[in-house]
Amino acid sequence: MSGNIVNSDEFYETFLPFSKRLSSEYNGDKDTESLMRVMYEFCINYSDIKTPQECFSIEEDPSFPLTQLGSNLITYRLIEFLTTIKNPNNVLEIGTFIGCSTMYIASKLSQNSKIVSLEKYDRFYNIAKRNISANNLTHKVELKNIDALEYLKDYNGEKFDMVFLDGNKENYKDYLILLENIMNSGCLIVIDNTSFSCDTLNEVPNTEKGLGVKSMLEYTKKLSYLKIVLPLSDGIMLMIANNKG
Ligand SMILES: C[S@@+](CC[C@H](N)C(=O)[O-])C[C@H]1O[C@@H](n2cnc3c(N)ncnc32)[C@H](O)[C@@H]1O
Repeated sequence: MSGNIVNSDEFYETFLPFSKRLSSEYNGDKDTESLMRVMYEFCINYSDIKTPQECFSIEEDPSFPLTQLGSNLITYRLIEFLTTIKNPNNVLEIGTFIGCSTMYIASKLSQNSKIVSLEKYDRFYNIAKRNISANNLTHKVELKNIDALEYLKDYNGEKFDMVFLDGNKENYKDYLILLENIMNSGCLIVIDNTSFSCDTLNEVPNTEKGLGVKSMLEYTKKLSYLKIVLPLSDGIMLMIANNKG
C-alpha cells in the first residue's frame, strides 16, 4: 500500500460497486459481467430512465445506429439532471449527431434559455433538424451545420453557462482552449468519452482519438477549475470553469 491516502487500498476498494468489498452481500453471480448487467438494470429502473425513442419522436440514421454514436442512457439522464440543477441561460453542445442529447438538454431548459448545437456533417445535421422540429423544440435550439473549430474561433456572442463536449475527440484540447474565453465564470463543462475505450488509460494511447482526449486531460491540469472524472459509461468529466478545486 502506498503511503499516499489517495492511493490507499481502502479508497480503491470502495471505488466501484462491483468491487469485492462492495459486492460482499450480493447472492447472485459475482462475475463482473453478470454483476454489471444487474447493476445496469438496477440503475435504469430506479432512475426511471427511458430510451430516446420513448421520450421523443426519433428519426434515426440507418447507417449509424444511436447505440453506436449516441451517448449512454445514464449519460443522457445525467445531462438532463445537470441541466436542471444548473438552469443555464445559454448552453453549447459540440457534436449533435441526430439531436438526442440536444433534445434532452433543451427539454430541461427554462423559458428564455437556449442551446447552440454544432454538427459538421450534413447527413446528421439534417436528421437532427427534423427531430428537433418534430418534438417542438426548435425555439430552444440553434442548430449549426459547421465545423466546431471554425465556429469557436470566430465566436463573439453571448458567453455560455454550460457546455457539453461530445464532438470529434482529436480536437478536444483545442476546443477546451477556445472555450476558455467564451464561458461565464462558473460554467459547467461536461465532457464525454474521457476513457475512450480505455485508450486514455494507456501511457501513450493507440488511436488518434485517444491521443486527442488524453492531451485534453493533461491540459486540464493547468486549469484551476473544479474537476471530477467519473468512471461512467465511456468516462465523463465534469468541470466548473474558474472555480478553484
Ligand atoms: C458522439 S457523436 C455526438 C452524440 C450526441 N451528442 C448524443 O449524445 O446524442 C459526435 C458527433 O460529432 C460530430 N462531429 C465530428 N467532427 C465534428 C466537428 N469538427 N465539428 C462539429 N461536429 C463534429 C459527428 O458528426 C457526430 O455526429
